[in-house]
Amino acid sequence: MNHIAPKMTATGVNVFYGRKQAIRDVSIDVPREDVTAFIGPSGCGKSTFLRTLNRMNDTIPGARVEGDVRMDGEDIYARSMDVVQLRARVGMVFQKPNPFPKSIFENVAYGPRIHGLARSKADLTQIVERSLTRAGLWNEVKDRLSESGTALSGGQQQRLCIARAIAVDPEVILMDEPCSALDPIATAKIEELIHELRGRYAIVIVTHNMQQAARVSQRTAFFHLGQLVEYGDTSDIFTNPRQDRTKDYITGRYG
Ligand SMILES: Nc1ncnc2c1ncn2[C@@H]1O[C@H](COP(=O)(O)OP(=O)(O)OP(=O)(O)O)[C@@H](O)[C@H]1O
Ligand SMILES: [Mg+2]
Repeated sequence: MNHIAPKMTATGVNVFYGRKQAIRDVSIDVPREDVTAFIGPSGCGKSTFLRTLNRMNDTIPGARVEGDVRMDGEDIYARSMDVVQLRARVGMVFQKPNPFPKSIFENVAYGPRIHGLARSKADLTQIVERSLTRAGLWNEVKDRLSESGTALSGGQQQRLCIARAIAVDPEVILMDEPCSALDPIATAKIEELIHELRGRYAIVIVTHNMQQAARVSQRTAFFHLGQLVEYGDTSDIFTNPRQDRTKDYITGRYG
C-alpha cells in the first residue's frame, strides 16, 4: 500500500458521445510515482477515459464528460482551468508517432517556446538537449537536429514525441498504445524509457499487450464495456484477479 496522495483522482466519471455512453461511473486514482496500465478489449473506453485526464475529449465534437477529475486536488474541469496549460502539465503520446513536419530541434523547442519556459536561446538549446537525452534519443540525433522529425524511424519518432512532451516539464504523461506501431526492438527501447521516467512523472499507459503491462506497470486497471472492472497492483491483477471478467481477459478468453 502506498500512502502518498495520488497525483490524479477521478470520481464518478461518465463520458458520452452524443447519446452513446462510452464511460460509466469510473473512479480511479492515478499514483504519483508509479506507472499505471489501462487494459481491456477494443472499444471498452481506454482511450476515452485517458483523454478525460487532460481534457482531450473537449476537442471531440459531441463528446461530453461528467464527474470530477482532480490533479493534486485541483479540479481540472473548473471554468478557470487553462486547458492549454493543463495539456502541457498532462502530456500525451499517441499510438501513431506524430512529429510536427519541422526539424527535430523545433519539434522539441516548440512547446517550451510557446509556454515561455526558456529565458534565452542558450536556455532553449539546453532544454532541447535535456529532453532528448531523457527520451533516450540524444545520441542518435545530436548531429542532425536540423533534419525533419518525420525523417526519423518510427521508434525514433515516438521517442521524439516523448521528448516533446517532456520538454514542457509535465507532471503526468499519458501514453495511448505508444508501441503498437513499433517493432520489438523499438518497443523494448520505449519500455526501458518508461522505466527510467518512472518516479519523475506519473505515467499512464494504455496497452493491448499483457506482457507489456506486466513489464512496465506497477498498477493495472481493467476496463470492460465502459466500466472499470478491477484496479490494483499489477502483480495481483495478473496472478490473482478477483473478477471473472478480468481473469477471462488476461487468460485470452476474449478481447
Ligand atoms: N469520436 C467518437 N465518436 C463517437 N464514438 C466514439 C468516439 N471515440 C470513441 N467512440 C466510442 O466509444 C467507445 C470507446 O472507445 P475508445 O476508443 O475509448 O475505446 P478503446 O478501449 O480505446 O479501444 P481500442 O483498444 O480499440 O483503442 C467505443 O464504443 C467507440 O466506438
Ligand atoms: Mg484506444
